[in-house]
Amino acid sequence: MPGSGGSIVEKAFASADAAANEARIYRTLEDSGVKTASLLNLKSERLYLSYVEGEDYLTLLEHQERGGISPEPWIALLEWIDAFHRATGLIQRDMNLRNFLWHESAAIGLDFEDCSPGKVIAMPAQLAAFVLLYDPPYTRTKRRIAAWIQDDAIQRWGCSEQEYTAQFALEREKLRQRRHNTAGKHNKSAH
Ligand SMILES: Nc1ncnc2c1ncn2[C@@H]1O[C@H](COP(=O)(O)OP(=O)(O)O)[C@@H](O)[C@H]1O
Ligand SMILES: [Mg+2]
Repeated sequence: MPGSGGSIVEKAFASADAAANEARIYRTLEDSGVKTASLLNLKSERLYLSYVEGEDYLTLLEHQERGGISPEPWIALLEWIDAFHRATGLIQRDMNLRNFLWHESAAIGLDFEDCSPGKVIAMPAQLAAFVLLYDPPYTRTKRRIAAWIQDDAIQRWGCSEQEYTAQFALEREKLRQRRHNTAGKHNKSAH
């Protein structure tokens, strides 16, 4: 997590522009009532956010692997995606599960460094790809969750199963590529 002192989280960016971009999205979400952290301050390349209580979705997934699987948090996350998209008109391109928290029966989104216009189903498709590829990949629990995400997304955004499946294949490939590149970088720096 970025530096967190008590109830304030400090997040440093590579540039003041990047910080201002993320700050703009935090403000839009707050104005639209979409659940996220409150932006407390923006100072050149640093953002100051309120600390949000909750369990991150990767921890939640690990708990569901051990029992008590339930669609509720995943449907809440799709509701959050819908609200995010309506408020910003953007696609969050980093649907990794640590960017979402589950608190008091609601999903909360964080981290808007990588947002751009695009197709809304890119978000649930990438989310499902993340769920399935976490280690150990493709467990029965993960496949059930990915199926819930798919069914809800198809209904919510009225796309065809074919369209969703094609987007999912694309997102899964991008994710594999991203992991391959990251692993390569880590290997290099280890030498
Ligand atoms: N305001 C916040 N309240 C609680 N946890 C946070 C908050 N901001 C970030 N985190 C935690 O810290 C992690 C890293 O922060 P994030 O904004 O995603 O930065 P990055 O992924 O670019 O390092 C998040 O995945 C989340 O779990
Ligand atoms: Mg993040």
